[in-house]
Amino acid sequence: MNRDAQRRAAAEAAAKLVENGMVVGLGTGSTAAHFIDALIRRVRDEGLKITAIPTSLRSDRQAREGGIKMASFANVRQLDLTVDGADQIMRGSLDLVKGLGGALLREKIVAAASKRLVIIADSSKLVDHLGGKIPVPVEVVKFGWESTATRIEKLGATPVRRWPKDTDQPFQTDGGNYILDCTFGALDDPAGLERALSHTIGVVESGLFIGMADTAFVANATGVEKLTRL
Ligand code: A5P
Repeated sequence: MNRDAQRRAAAEAAAKLVENGMVVGLGTGSTAAHFIDALIRRVRDEGLKITAIPTSLRSDRQAREGGIKMASFANVRQLDLTVDGADQIMRGSLDLVKGLGGALLREKIVAAASKRLVIIADSSKLVDHLGGKIPVPVEVVKFGWESTATRIEKLGATPVRRWPKDTDQPFQTDGGNYILDCTFGALDDPAGLERALSHTIGVVESGLFIGMADTAFVANATGVEKLTRL
């Protein structure tokens, strides 16, 4: 299986967890898009009856076009299950780095309102230590972002405002904020860093998801492995 086929296999394994009547959180990214496709097929072919809350405008559009009915926080306080991708998954704890796709704030709000967060990924996402090769994405308000970046620097990071190649505008989230990609190196204490970032003025939310995922379906070339938080 190539990497995309692995992502699809992990997504299809997670789609089997969805039952009639559930309110389902829809993640964002290429792996989550496979999950949404699998749900669309179950709705169309099996008559599965669910409602969903998406974590981005992209996932919202894909699900609606596929015939999935949407729920809203105006009527729903708790979701049964959220299935989402991740940029890194720590072995054992299933702590995560998320947000390279830019949707971390809505992803965290939806995950926090869910009874379960299930992560789907290919095995390249599984790590022994979070951070290292990839930055921790941090969503910050636009006003005074330079000052917020200085405060984050004092936590040991090199923050870089996300700016997509070949564009003349910095990246803006669905919530109209900036993302600072913060390189910390390998993280000794991800939970402590998550707390420190959440107390940093100007920070809206960080891409560290600590103690939130209970299960991960991780695919490699030969199949899908189900990991449970230890
Ligand atoms: C989106 O903001 C991220 O948290 C994604 O879940 C993450 O980037 C994984 O995306 P892929 O499935 O495309 O790797």
